Amino acid sequence: MDPEQTLQEAHERILACKDANALKDIEREYVGKKGVVASMLATIPSLAPEQRKAHGQKANALKQAITKAVAERQAEFETAKLDQARRADDFDPTLPPPRARRGSLHPITQVTRELEDLFVSMGYEVLDGPEVELDHYNFEALNITKDHPARDSQDTFYCDEEGHLVLRTHTSPVQIRAMEKRKPPFRVIAPGRVFRQETTDASHDHTFYQMEGLVVGDNISVAHLIGAMKTLLRGIFGRDLDVRLRPGHFPFVEPGFELDARCPFCDDGCSVCKKTTWIELLPCGLIHPNVLRAGGIDPERWSGFAFGLGLSRLVMLRHNIDDVRHLLDGDLRFLEQF
Ligand code: PHE
Repeated sequence: MDPEQTLQEAHERILACKDANALKDIEREYVGKKGVVASMLATIPSLAPEQRKAHGQKANALKQAITKAVAERQAEFETAKLDQARRADDFDPTLPPPRARRGSLHPITQVTRELEDLFVSMGYEVLDGPEVELDHYNFEALNITKDHPARDSQDTFYCDEEGHLVLRTHTSPVQIRAMEKRKPPFRVIAPGRVFRQETTDASHDHTFYQMEGLVVGDNISVAHLIGAMKTLLRGIFGRDLDVRLRPGHFPFVEPGFELDARCPFCDDGCSVCKKTTWIELLPCGLIHPNVLRAGGIDPERWSGFAFGLGLSRLVMLRHNIDDVRHLLDGDLRFLEQF
C-alpha cells in the first residue's frame, strides 16, 4: 500500500462526504482501532529492522494528516449548521446567550479574603502553615508540655506511633514558625484549617477554621492588642463595637484574655448573644516569654501579642447559621445561598 495514494484517496472521500456521521465512519476506517493506520503499524514487527523506523514514521504522518483533514471538515459542518440556524425564522440575534451557572466562594473563603485584605492594609503579612504539624509546634513550643491539662481540651488526631505528628488543633503553631524565620518587629496573620478530637454537635466540629494573629515589636502592650482588635471588629462588622476583656487561660500568653464584643445584632439581648449582649469571639493575650524564647526571640528585648479568631464561628455569626456542620458538609442547598 502506498501511503501517499491512501492519503489522496482519504482526502477525496473526506471532502465528498455529506454529513458528520459519514465523516465519523471515514475517520474510523482510517485511524480507528482496526483502521488502515493501525494495520500499517501492525506490520512493523514483520519488517526488517532498518525499515521499521521509516515505516512507523509514514504511518504516523498519515494518521496526523487524516486527523487534521477530518477536523477541518468537521468544523465546516459545524459552521454550516450554525449558518442554517441563523437563517431560520425563529432565530433572534437580540436574545442574550444562555447564562452559565456560576459557582460562588464558600463563606469561609469570603471572610478569609476580606480579613486578609484588612490586615494586609495594616502592614501584616499573610502566612500559611502545615495542617499536619509536629507536636513540638502545636504544643511544646507553645508552652503546653506533655502533661499539661490544656492538652485535654485540644485532643487531636495523632498521625504516627510516636505521637510526633498531629493534626494541628489551632493556628497557633504558625506563631513559632513565623518567629523562627523573622527578625522583630513583624506582624503576621495565619488563617487556616484546624482539627480536634470532638464529639460533633451544632457548635463543635472535628474540623474548623481559625485565624491567628501575631505581632512582635518594641514594648507591645495590652493597649496595642485592644487597638488592633477594635480595628479587626470594625472591619468585620462595619462599625465600632465596645469590647471588654475577661481573663482567659492559654499557656502561650500571659496575661491571657477572652475579648468580648458588644453584640452587633441587638441592644438588649438576642439569641446570637444568648441574651448577654456580649459575644465571645477573640481569645488573645501577650506572648509568653517561653514562647518568644522557643521561637528564638529574646523576651527581654521584644514583646508581642497574639490572637486566635474563630473564623467558623464568625461566619456563623455573620450569616446566622445555626449549625457549624453545615459549613463542611458540602450540601448545595446550603452553599448556593452564598
Ligand atoms: N489557639 C487558641 C485556641 O485555639 C486561641 C488563642 C490564640 C489564644 C492566640 C490566645 C492567643 O484555643
